[in-house]
Amino acid sequence: FAGPGDEPIVLDVTTPAAQVRVPTTRRYLMCPPAYFTVEYAINPWMDPTQPISTSLAVEQWTALKETYERLGHRVETIEPQPGLPDMVFSANSGTVIDGQVLGSRFRAPQRAAEADHFRRWFLANGYRDVVMPERTNEAEGDFTWTGRYLLAGTGFRTDPLAHSEAQEALGVPVISLQLTDPRYYHLDVALFVLADDLIAYYPDAFSPGSRRVLRRLFPNAILATAEDAACLGLNAVSDGRHVILPVEATALADQVAQHGFEPVFVDISELRKSGGGPKCCTMELRD
Ligand code: ARG
Repeated sequence: FAGPGDEPIVLDVTTPAAQVRVPTTRRYLMCPPAYFTVEYAINPWMDPTQPISTSLAVEQWTALKETYERLGHRVETIEPQPGLPDMVFSANSGTVIDGQVLGSRFRAPQRAAEADHFRRWFLANGYRDVVMPERTNEAEGDFTWTGRYLLAGTGFRTDPLAHSEAQEALGVPVISLQLTDPRYYHLDVALFVLADDLIAYYPDAFSPGSRRVLRRLFPNAILATAEDAACLGLNAVSDGRHVILPVEATALADQVAQHGFEPVFVDISELRKSGGGPKCCTMELRD
């Protein structure tokens, strides 16, 4: 190339922002928080004595759903059930890759009944391959598909033996990762995938060995700060271009933007009182 004055035009493909990030249309399954509350504590975020506004949770959830729709994504919903206040966190109830469904099995008895409502939703909505796990398996709470590997968390919820079950049921290579900080009890509050070549994570949420695995597989990953992690900033959803994340995760949003993505903020303050964020409320249907 030569410019007008014969000076060379440098096409700088080395800076991350030079990359054009292209979104792909997604299909998500969400559950309205009609019965959302905090009446038991199964993670350090939950305090049954603090006041909860179900209507504010519904408002924030609706704004999240409308954000997806505005970005061109399709959102399916499942009927919420009285007595299952955490059912809004649909990510915990299934891992869907290439139309194959691996359901869930909750660790806490208070959430156990959610799994079968989702199993029935899958069957009623045209899914043929629905496998229910034998071992404790909190689905996309602990399983993250990069397009290449299924990153799998363990330490608080999902049984490590569920990792090999997932590999067998879904036919994808599983990478086990050890979570060590009770505040980051699920993989999806410590790590998320932005695109098939980029993830973001909070290193301190992982064991030393798992940190080395992540560094080896993703040497150019975005590393989140303690503040970004503490507002559940890593509980984010990317469509390949737009990254939906909690409004408090400002440093993470800057890094995301530097890599050519468009941060889209949502307020999830009420849902966070249960230890959840945008991703927890969103199961991806990869058909
Ligand atoms: N209160 C819920 C629990 O502790 C929150 C689940 C959040 N979901 C998630 N995918 N991290 O089980």
